[in-house]
Amino acid sequence: IVGNNDFLTEDYPVMRRYLVVESDDDMDEIAGKIKGLDEEKIFKEYEKFRAKYSRKTKKIAEEFLGLNVENYREVEYDKLLTVLVPVYNTEKYFKEYKKSKKGIEIKKDILELDILNKKIDKGNFEHFMIKEIYDEPLVLKKILDTYTLDNKIIISENLINDLKESKSITILGCGTSYHAGLIGKYVIESLVKKRVNVYLASEFNNVTLLDENTTYLFLSQSGETIDLKLAYNLIKDKSRIYTFSNVLTSSLCMLSKESFDLCGDIEISVASTKAYVSEVTLLIMLAYKLSNLDKEFIDNIYICINSINKTLKNTSLIKDLAFKIKDYSSLFYLGKGIDHFINLESSLKLKEVSYIHSEALYSGELKHGSIALLSKDSFVIGLLSSLKNKSSFMNNIKEVDARESKYFLVSTSCNDSDFIFDCPNEYFSPICISSFYQLLSYYTALYKGLDIDKPRNLAKSCTVE
Ligand code: M6R
Repeated sequence: IVGNNDFLTEDYPVMRRYLVVESDDDMDEIAGKIKGLDEEKIFKEYEKFRAKYSRKTKKIAEEFLGLNVENYREVEYDKLLTVLVPVYNTEKYFKEYKKSKKGIEIKKDILELDILNKKIDKGNFEHFMIKEIYDEPLVLKKILDTYTLDNKIIISENLINDLKESKSITILGCGTSYHAGLIGKYVIESLVKKRVNVYLASEFNNVTLLDENTTYLFLSQSGETIDLKLAYNLIKDKSRIYTFSNVLTSSLCMLSKESFDLCGDIEISVASTKAYVSEVTLLIMLAYKLSNLDKEFIDNIYICINSINKTLKNTSLIKDLAFKIKDYSSLFYLGKGIDHFINLESSLKLKEVSYIHSEALYSGELKHGSIALLSKDSFVIGLLSSLKNKSSFMNNIKEVDARESKYFLVSTSCNDSDFIFDCPNEYFSPICISSFYQLLSYYTALYKGLDIDKPRNLAKSCTVE
């Protein structure tokens, strides 16, 4: 059972949640087991029982709900259940829960989750991160199954009407989800010709000029990110907030007008991979829907699935590159237009799991300062997915070459590339090429012997500021 409630305090004005795991053991059997035992043995049995439920509760919190258990305190109640409550307001939550058990109506939702039956394992993979990258074609298929029918994109009319009627669209997210938002902006503005503002949720309180007639799209894999919850509180007209998340029972989904499944199921690895692909895909889907290009979107997703599968089938080149870059202390990702937004995410992924510093730079901006950093000890990864940028991008690469920096080129068609990937058009390149960059980060971290699924200093869900 997951409860949401709105004990808003001045210092922490956000929705908080608690988790209760009830015992499904047969109490008569347990009573039979302890009958006749001396007090010490009864105590030991009880401790075993308690530990089992504590493990179960934490597993659900971490693996299924993406909560960081460090921010939660465990409380036990009647020996039959354990409760995880946020470290803030512990007593208050627990009292409310007890009251609700006695049938007193309190202001909160209680949701029963059928999640213990879901199978979560790494399969034949060594880590969740790589398993989740290999899940990406399946996620795309699930998106098509969920949101399309007979060559049409089927998604909430409320959402489509709000998007059509509002003057602009405002996307909020953090980290990887923010990067997905930037891609959404590029594609929606190019195709739909409607203004899209993308904000980092953690900086939303510093935005000085907000559109009034706007529809908000919140992107959050976990649906629990504190920065988004705080941003939510700053939005005056909450009637047009929609959330895209993997956890439809999460706080942000509860707070929104409507919420949409990212179709990525549970993501366990701290580094978000498949959720990014699905956030990007859903935003592109909205752009195509608003442009009445439903069939084109569907056809293109099939091309993306084949493209990703091709990358996943032969990873020797990626492994070689990972082996080369693992000893660099810093790396540069160069690109223009949409490629720059893809690079921002590739760079974050590399930092996060391999602890190598990296930066995504607009290639045309090199000459305005950053080129001073390049030398024969630098490594550059260039991305070119649109021919319109070819000539200026290649000129920038010549500059890199002239500094004797090592470089590796990724493109959709350029003959000089080290890796060529299939892609229907530049809008779909974030979907097609992400697995390449995610695997690059993965193998680099693997060769460095790092804790890939749980990188240092990071938690899957950022529930404190
Ligand atoms: O659950 P969210 O999508 O709201 O999380 C946002 C970021 O914390 C998250 O994307 C983070 O950047 C990832 N760990 C990056 O891989």
